[in-house]
Amino acid sequence: MCGIVAYLGPKNPLPIVLNGLQRLEYRGYDSAGIFLSDGLTRQTTKVVGKVSELRNELATKNKFDAQLGMGHTRWATHGEPNQLNAHPHVSNSGDLVLIHNGIIENYGVLKKELIERGYHFTSETDSEVLVNWIEEIKKTSGVKLGKAVQMALSQVVGAYGIVVHDNSNPMELIVARLGSPIAIGLEKEGFFVGSDATPFLDHTREVIYLEDNEMAILRAGKDIQVRQTDNDTLRTPTVEELKWNLENIQKGGFPHFMLKEIHEQPDAIRNTLRGRLFAEEGKIQISSFNEHQSVFTQARRIIIIACGTSWHAGLVGEYLIETFARIPVEVEYASEFRYRNPLIYSDDIVIPISQSGETADTLAALKLAKKAGAFIYGICNVVGSSISRETHSGMYTHAGPEIGVASTKAFTTQIAVLSLIAFKLAVIKETLSPKALRSHLIELDKVPTLMEQLIAEKEQVEEIAKIIHTATNCLYLGRGYNFPVALEGALKLKEISYIHAEGYPAAEMKHGPIALIDEAMPVVVIATRKGHYEKIVSNIQEIKSRKGIVIAIVSKGDTSVKKIADYCIEIPESSECFTPLYATLPLQFLSYYIAVLRECNVDQPRNLAKSVTVE
Ligand code: G6P
Repeated sequence: MCGIVAYLGPKNPLPIVLNGLQRLEYRGYDSAGIFLSDGLTRQTTKVVGKVSELRNELATKNKFDAQLGMGHTRWATHGEPNQLNAHPHVSNSGDLVLIHNGIIENYGVLKKELIERGYHFTSETDSEVLVNWIEEIKKTSGVKLGKAVQMALSQVVGAYGIVVHDNSNPMELIVARLGSPIAIGLEKEGFFVGSDATPFLDHTREVIYLEDNEMAILRAGKDIQVRQTDNDTLRTPTVEELKWNLENIQKGGFPHFMLKEIHEQPDAIRNTLRGRLFAEEGKIQISSFNEHQSVFTQARRIIIIACGTSWHAGLVGEYLIETFARIPVEVEYASEFRYRNPLIYSDDIVIPISQSGETADTLAALKLAKKAGAFIYGICNVVGSSISRETHSGMYTHAGPEIGVASTKAFTTQIAVLSLIAFKLAVIKETLSPKALRSHLIELDKVPTLMEQLIAEKEQVEEIAKIIHTATNCLYLGRGYNFPVALEGALKLKEISYIHAEGYPAAEMKHGPIALIDEAMPVVVIATRKGHYEKIVSNIQEIKSRKGIVIAIVSKGDTSVKKIADYCIEIPESSECFTPLYATLPLQFLSYYIAVLRECNVDQPRNLAKSVTVE
């Protein structure tokens, strides 16, 4: 969702902010804008569309030596994507400038009051209301910008990551967050601000993450002051070292991030398993489990909360944990869980799963469960993200940065982490013999190598994409562990190629989707040998009787399905519990190749955001 970049310091802010915005493009947006100032000259430029268009527009404008830059990519919430609604927003006096990520829920009330006091508005946004609300407080209370921001935010309901600038103090920036992430990069005499650290990765490795209800006052060449927004308590911020490098966030010779990230999965899973899986010894080492041994021993129930692809990984987690550790698991959409007054007990373990660690609904659901006394054990990819900081404990997936909006390596590494958790719990609960455990761990250890072989055979998937890329609907079916994979396959296709696709448990086909099947309907069926094979073969026959086009994902060496399906894609033979790790890959490739053939924007599909920081 919206991306924020700002720079205050001795360097030219224009390229820093523009390149930074380009790095945040993956978050999803529909308009962009930039504000530049040297204290005297002030220039605001906004466009509907991409950062490249903003760059072109700026090339037509007068150049000057700016000392401060504030840039924004907007994902429309209040008001359609147009120039007026794009950020930065300027207050009525022209003095204050603001960029905002989040939603001000009570903006209507504040706007009404401001209009009564003579303010006018050029946009439909909640953000323009906020900048004027700050201005009004500053004017009527006679306080400095920092205090005015603090007072204004105390009256705001909603979520925000903001950067505010006051022309009367050109070498200062005020930054604040509640619910929307803010990272501050440090250099000798300057400051970078970003919705995450990627915009300034090539300038500094030192970063401070603002916590919720915190603001920072940045003074060029001077200091940074971090304080609570609801009281004046100062915090000495911890300066963290950035571990990701520029290479991680570049395409590395691939035409799209998504394709690069699909190929990265074997290494990503190696990183997930490193130092945790000792297959030959039949052991799993998870330090956080040792620290909280009694919690895991006494756990009566596990609740997994997540959104999107991470929710699908959660479903695989349910099968894994219930099968191996025999602990009941519930998997909930975070957005439903948080609003349905759920039953949460103190001996529940709640597992939020999130690639970004910033999804607003997952974060809110986590906080609710924490308040109710549950133990929160997070699975996140982004180190230092809001969710990872709110949990009692957890595991990182170590997949590296995922830039493509359609999640790929995050999903398979989440499944790898959930496998480790399931097997570790099985050890604790003594529900799996050491021999069976060791044999499963040896199989898990082989996943990255077998995935590499599978990736090498991607051309067969490309050929199938050429045949079905003009379809308007598509059905994905799977049973058991592969039901969530069917959901994920369908999600991938609709996200990036805009083909309507649905994932279903194969047996449910008879309760509705079968009515849709005809000679124009491709049906992707996961029909691996281990797990309900005969039943799925019958389902394929039912599809073929109705002239559907069957694309089957089968185990290597399969003969039965090959006789009836139109197209088959082979994946390595494995225990049923590991089939999601293999079956997912051809489905990712399929959606990728179809989207490319349909000339869709693979990495930044329309209307979607990588990190959904508003509910
Ligand atoms: C968005 C992304 C999805 C992602 C979901 C949950 O919808 O486009 O790819 O699965 O958010 O995100 P999270 O970061 O919490 O895993």
